[in-house]
Amino acid sequence: MKNKRILLSLYEFHTSSAAIAIDGKIVFACHEDRIIQKKNEIGFPLLSIKKCIKFACIQPEDIDEVIIVNDKDSFKNYNAIVNYLFKRQSRYSIDDWINENKNFWFKNIYENRKYKSYFKCMGGEKKVPNDHYIKTNFYDEKKSVEKNVISLFKEKILLVKRLGIKNAKINFVPHYKCHHYHAFYSSKQRNFNKSLILHCEGDGGKYNQAVSIPTLKGLKFIHGTNKFNLGRLYQWTTLNLNMKPYHDEYKVMGLSPYGDVQKSVKLSKILNKYFKVHKKKFVIEFKSKPKDMYYFFKKIYNNFRFDEVAGGLQHLIEKLLSEWVFKLTSKYRNRSEIFYGGGVAMNVKSNLAISKIKKIKKFFVPLSPADETNVLGALYMMIEKDYLQKNKSLKKIPSLSSPYLGMEYNSYNINSIKKYIGQGKVNILKLEKVAQDLNKGKIIARFSGRSEFGQRALGNRSILASPIYKNIQNKINYSIKSRDFWLPFGLTIIEEDENKYLIRNKFKSSPFMTTCYELKPKYYNFFTCGVHDKDNTVRAQILKKEVNNDYYRLIKELKKITKIGAIVNTSMNFHKYPIVETEEHALDFFKFSKIDGLILNEFYISK
Ligand SMILES: [Fe+2]
Repeated sequence: MKNKRILLSLYEFHTSSAAIAIDGKIVFACHEDRIIQKKNEIGFPLLSIKKCIKFACIQPEDIDEVIIVNDKDSFKNYNAIVNYLFKRQSRYSIDDWINENKNFWFKNIYENRKYKSYFKCMGGEKKVPNDHYIKTNFYDEKKSVEKNVISLFKEKILLVKRLGIKNAKINFVPHYKCHHYHAFYSSKQRNFNKSLILHCEGDGGKYNQAVSIPTLKGLKFIHGTNKFNLGRLYQWTTLNLNMKPYHDEYKVMGLSPYGDVQKSVKLSKILNKYFKVHKKKFVIEFKSKPKDMYYFFKKIYNNFRFDEVAGGLQHLIEKLLSEWVFKLTSKYRNRSEIFYGGGVAMNVKSNLAISKIKKIKKFFVPLSPADETNVLGALYMMIEKDYLQKNKSLKKIPSLSSPYLGMEYNSYNINSIKKYIGQGKVNILKLEKVAQDLNKGKIIARFSGRSEFGQRALGNRSILASPIYKNIQNKINYSIKSRDFWLPFGLTIIEEDENKYLIRNKFKSSPFMTTCYELKPKYYNFFTCGVHDKDNTVRAQILKKEVNNDYYRLIKELKKITKIGAIVNTSMNFHKYPIVETEEHALDFFKFSKIDGLILNEFYISK
């Protein structure tokens, strides 16, 4: 491997992950939370690094560069370091979040109390989980923030070296840039002269909303702010609705169409008074700054029902983001192809709203555009640098070949499966039999091939069901996933049937479930599952045969019976747990959930 150029990237906030590229091609990526089965895990992704090294069949000393997402701009104050030490975004309960507001922010902001240490206020050393891989006793508020950051970075470098990665140069890179690099270079179709790259998120280091353009000399930053507060408003509104920030924002989005439209619009207009889209800076900032993001808006929300709050907030972000992108496309008239990332781009409904701007010709939202894919962006940043140094055209940088970037596990046979599960039938997989069972209303999980990278299950770690079987949504919700009743599931639709069911839009066969589509009116009331009850939108994965042939064949087999080229697809995970990763996780899921069947690679297991 010594003649190959090997790059390893790491991300340590939610959801921590690692990825590896060999000779300019991203070959593997995985999340720490899948391996340890703790949702949205934060911390040094030690086990993910080991998986990267194992997959690539290399020795740690073969790695040429380690790219760690987040430079010192992501740690501008003590709180940012403490967030990392506490694993705040992954480990905090709803009570912890409420206590933080009550005991820290309220006292500091509303009672004008003297600044009190956030670290001590929230529990001090007792609150630091004992499963960090780095030493955490470096933290010292008697020293400056800068000195604390230097100590934190030293701990990380020490750990990298201890893993045997001793020949690599270690780089700390800006957070926001990773979103831009992933959004642009992951795409197969990119036009350097016609593209604008945008991102929006809650917290992002130097900028949490920014705009750049691709050039043949590298991506060029043009606008940005760290005062974009719509992502933060979404997080604190999630808490105001008694749901968990950094986890449950999708639930708020799913709830939004249930609110009375007039009241939702009324709330949106009230909220809109606090924000503005800058005409010259091309960012969204406060027009009138509220005292805080939780208590201040809580008072306003008290006049509305919970679903109207969700509806009002969704209406606001769709309006403001559309206005922002409209202004950008008016200024950069020759740039009509949008590449859009960051945590706010997980809001598939606002993605659809933005895409309706007439001037936009193409709208690309990459695989899982929140922070977990920053490792992919970090690799692209280094790959671009390598290409420029070797005078190679940036147009030739390989796009992301597949979302199935994780591990493949295939160690069980019929006997060992029978031994593991105790009860149940195990047969060689026959797609015809699975399709028949799906058509009878059975719920079947599919564990096959390499795992998907990102927050969405795209067929290889999925729960599947017929989209037209009566009452199937309730069956999945109540007996398997314990999900809230208002949340729709997604659909995987085979490419040739996309235009049959869905209104054509600018996403061009979105393969990653990163946008929603509008259903054609003649199919309203046709699907029993996979379509939002209230607004007839579909969070669809459009599947091409060449992307996942086995999954495609299963849907085709079901289509032979149902005449429908679509299947309900939701992630295979227990409530509040990450998506399953290994065969054992999948077999446990079969044993302890109420699914009817499990495809485990070449086997079909049924109850
Ligand atoms: Fe981010």
